[in-house]
Amino acid sequence: MGNKNISMAVIRRLPKYYRYLGDLLDRDIQRISSKELSDIIGFTASQIRQDLNNFGGFGQQGYGYNVDALHKEIGKILGLDTKYNAVLIGAGNLGQAIANYSGFRKAGFEIKALFDANPRMIGLKIRDFEILDSEDIEEFIKENDVDIAIMCIPKKGSQELADRLVNAGIKGIWNFVPVDLDVPESVIVENVNLTESLFTLSYLMKAED
Ligand code: NAI
Repeated sequence: MGNKNISMAVIRRLPKYYRYLGDLLDRDIQRISSKELSDIIGFTASQIRQDLNNFGGFGQQGYGYNVDALHKEIGKILGLDTKYNAVLIGAGNLGQAIANYSGFRKAGFEIKALFDANPRMIGLKIRDFEILDSEDIEEFIKENDVDIAIMCIPKKGSQELADRLVNAGIKGIWNFVPVDLDVPESVIVENVNLTESLFTLSYLMKAED
């Protein structure tokens, strides 16, 4: 896989570029200058030029950026030209909300099954999914070419679950559990934490006082 030399800070900005460029395409806007892009995204024009220079010269002096080409290229860099199979573990409040959101599938991330450990949950239907017994997760991952595990269980048992997922050959974990999981370097963990975001909001509101 290429682009290993791109800094994490740039990578963290790419999804935002991708989203804004997608919005521009929806509005049939085919080209844009770094200054205009700066006005809508909020990064400085020089930051934008620097970021996008990482991927070969897209911008042309006096023309700006070709929105469609740039959108496609950033999509490729993000790996969005690939389809991913995912499983979700922990079909509680958060797990069900994630499973109910159709946008992930549209973006190429297909949730193949939901798993839970609670016998009272197993067999229930959420959307098109019947909740499966998490005892069977290793087998399912191996048989269904699953790349990503979405973890929505409580803290307790989360490292044990991560170990099992790793042993079953999972490549990436989208981790909603507020725990830093210990996994081999070859497995990618992306943590999501709404509480941290909320605390940032709290700080910024305080700073406004
Ligand atoms: P919940 O109690 O509604 O659901 C948890 C589900 O996991 C239950 O159905 C339970 O039976 C199942 N479960 C427990 N241990 C399991 C195991 N070892 N294997 C398989 N299934 C197992 O809890 P809720 O509210 O959905 O929260 C789930 C997790 O998500 C918690 O760790 C919570 O802290 C976290 N969370 C994270 C957020 C974030 O922004 N990252 C936001 C909200 C919750």
